[in-house]
Amino acid sequence: MSNNIPENSFHDLVLKNRSYRRFDASIPVSEQILFDLLELVRLTPSSKNRQPLKYILINNQDDCNFVFSHLKWAWFLRNWDGPSPEERPTAYLIMLLDKNLNDKADFDAGIAAQTILLGAVEKDFGGCIIRTFNRYELAKYFCLPENFDIIMVIALGKPAEEIIIDNNGSSGKMEYFRDENGLHHVPKRTVNELIYSPIRHDQD
Ligand SMILES: Cc1cc2nc3c(=O)[nH]c(=O)nc-3n(C[C@H](O)[C@H](O)[C@H](O)COP(=O)(O)O)c2cc1C
Repeated sequence: MSNNIPENSFHDLVLKNRSYRRFDASIPVSEQILFDLLELVRLTPSSKNRQPLKYILINNQDDCNFVFSHLKWAWFLRNWDGPSPEERPTAYLIMLLDKNLNDKADFDAGIAAQTILLGAVEKDFGGCIIRTFNRYELAKYFCLPENFDIIMVIALGKPAEEIIIDNNGSSGKMEYFRDENGLHHVPKRTVNELIYSPIRHDQD
C-alpha cells in the first residue's frame, strides 16, 4: 500500500509501471510469462479489428545479447551507456506490424505496449518501451520478410532500480534524471495541467 492506494489495484499497477532500464540479470523471464503477456495483448482493441501486430519472443542469452547491442537507452541520461551486464533485461518482445493485415497500427501498438507492461508489473516484472534502435540490423538478424516492420522493442526483466515520480510539471522541465543516490526521477504534469478548459460561446 502506498499513498493509500491498495496493493495491486489498477492504480497501483499504473503507478509501478515505470520505464525500467536496470534489471536483475540473474532473474529470467520464462517463456510462459511471455505467453501470458501475449494472452493479455490478444484481447486488446484494434482498428477495424485487423489485429496486425505480431511478436518475436526472446529470452535466450544469445538473442538477448544481440538485441541489446542495437538499442538506444535513455535519451536524457547522456553520460550513461545503458544497463551493465548485471543489469540487463532478460527478455524482449519485439513488436511487428504485419503490413499485409494493415498498413499502420500506431494506436493499436500503444495500447498493446501498455497492456504488456502492466501485465509484467502485475507479475513483479517490468520493462521499457524502446523505439530508438537499429531496425535494419534487427530485421536482418531475424530474417524478417518484407511485409513486417518492427514497431518497437519491449525490454523485460526484474526491475532493479527505484523510480521516483516528481509532480513538478509546472516547472516545464520534463527531462528525467538520476540523482546523486542513483534514483531515477521522472517528472509528471499534475492533473490540473492536463485539463484544458475551453472558452464556451455562452460565456461571451
Ligand atoms: C513511444 C515511446 C518510445 C520510447 N522510446 C524509448 C527509447 O527508445 N529508449 C528509452 O530508454 N526509453 C524510451 N521510452 C520510455 C520513455 O522515456 C518514458 O516513458 C518516459 O521517460 C516516462 O517515464 P515513465 O514511463 O516511467 O513514466 C519510450 C516511451 C514511449 C511511450
